[in-house]
Amino acid sequence: MKQAYEKPVIVRLEAGYLNKFGSSPMYSRRVRKAIDGVNIESLVERFGSPLFVFSERIMRQKYREVHEAFATRYPHVVQAWSYKTNYLQAVCAVFHDEGALAEVVSEFEYEKARKLGVPGHRIIFNGPYKPLRALRRAVEEGAQIHVDHLDEIHDLEALAKEMDRQIPIGIRLNMDTGIFPQWTRFGLNLESGQAMDAVKRIHSRGYLILKGLHAHIGTFILDPDAYGRATAKMVQFGTEVAERFGYEMEFLDVGGGFPSKNKLKGTYLPPDVAVPPIEAFAEAITDALYAHLPPGVFPRLILETGRALVDEAGFLITTIFAAKRLPDGRRAYVADAGLNDLFTSFWYKFTIEIDREVQGMNEPSMINGPLCMNIDVVDEGTLLPPLKRGTRLVLSPVGAYNVTQWMQFIEYRPAVVLVGEDGSVEVIRERETLSEVEGPERLPERLRLT
Ligand SMILES: Cc1ncc(COP(=O)(O)O)c(C=O)c1O
Repeated sequence: MKQAYEKPVIVRLEAGYLNKFGSSPMYSRRVRKAIDGVNIESLVERFGSPLFVFSERIMRQKYREVHEAFATRYPHVVQAWSYKTNYLQAVCAVFHDEGALAEVVSEFEYEKARKLGVPGHRIIFNGPYKPLRALRRAVEEGAQIHVDHLDEIHDLEALAKEMDRQIPIGIRLNMDTGIFPQWTRFGLNLESGQAMDAVKRIHSRGYLILKGLHAHIGTFILDPDAYGRATAKMVQFGTEVAERFGYEMEFLDVGGGFPSKNKLKGTYLPPDVAVPPIEAFAEAITDALYAHLPPGVFPRLILETGRALVDEAGFLITTIFAAKRLPDGRRAYVADAGLNDLFTSFWYKFTIEIDREVQGMNEPSMINGPLCMNIDVVDEGTLLPPLKRGTRLVLSPVGAYNVTQWMQFIEYRPAVVLVGEDGSVEVIRERETLSEVEGPERLPERLRLT
C-alpha cells in the first residue's frame, strides 16, 4: 500500500520520553478496536461518549486468580468484595456470584449491600465512622464488625448492655510493616500497646467477645514482604491475646491493597515489570501463617481485595473534541472525559489506546478533559500521533475507585455498560439526566422565575 506523504517535522527533545526498551517511541502506538470482542464505535453509537465499559470476563477471571493463589496454599480462604472500590450493583453482584462476602465501610454501603440481597452475616463492617443506628442494625443482623477505635468499643458495649447479650467483634490493627507512609489513622496501634490495652478493656467489661483481627496496610502495595510482616505480627498478637485472655482467633483479615496492573505516576518501570503477581502476595502471607500459627490451627483467612479484582476490567472510552497547540509548542487535546470521570488520574498514568490506525509521527501530547478548570488533566504528556476530532481513546485500567469517586461537576456522569461473557452488552448505570441531578434540589416558591 502506498503510504501517505508526511512532511518532515523537528521535535524538541524532552526529558522523560527516552525509552530504554528500544522500541521507537516516535511511531509506536496502541490501537484497540474492540473490548472483549465488542466494537468501540458500535458501543459509542449505542450508549454515547464518554462511556465506561466493564468486562465481566476479566472480573471473574481476576477473582478466580486471587482465589486460586490463596486457596492452593491455605485451607480456609474467604474473599470479601470491597464495596468502595466500585459499588455498582452489577459489579457487586458478579463478585457475590463468585462467592464473595461484602466488605463495607459506611452505613450507606451497608444499606446498599442489604438492598442487593446480601444477608447481614455475609457483611464485614469496617470503617472509622459507624453511627450508633448503623451499628445497632449490623449487630441485630449478625454482621462481622471490625472495631476502629475506643469510642466504638464504648458504643458496642452500650448496645450489648441494651440488648442483654454479648457481641462478637474483630478489631482493626495498625502497625509498622515497613511501608511508608504508615497508615496509622485507622484501627488500634500494635507497637504502642494501644491494641492490647483495648483487648484488656474488652475482657474486663465482658460485653464483647474478640473473635478475630483485621489489618489493611495500604493500597497499591508493591512489596509482598510487607504483608508477610503484617501477617506475622497479627498472628503473634493473636497468640498473646489467646494466652492472656482466652480469646481464640477464628479469623485473620489481611485487608486489601494488592496492586492492579496500573502505573503509578512517577514510577519508571511498566506495570508488567513493576507489579508482582498475586502469587507473590499469597506466598508471603501464607508463609507467615505457617511460620507463626500453632500446628494444625487454621483460622479463616479473609481478603478484602478491591482494585486487584476490578481495575483491569474497567475501560473508559472518550472522544477527542478539539486539538490545540499551546504557546510553548506542546500539542494538547480536549477530550469529553476528564477529572470529573477519572478521579484517579491524579495518581495513575493510564494506558491510552486509539480506536483507529493513524498516520504521522508521535509527539508529546497533553490530554485535558471538558472542565473549564486548570486542573482537568488526564495526562500531562503522552506520545500520540496527530489525532482528528472524533477519534476515540480507550483509557485503562480505570475500573477501581473512579465509578465511586467521580463527581458531577458541570457535566453529567456517563453511562456504564457491562460486556457479558457471551459478548452481550447491558447498561448497568444510565447516563445522568438533568432531572436526576436536580432531583434533591428545592426551589423556594418566592425565587421561582416566572
Ligand atoms: C478496610 C479496607 N479494606 C479493603 C480495601 C480495598 O483496598 P484495595 O482496593 O487497595 O484492595 C480498602 C480500601 O481502602 C479498605 O479501606
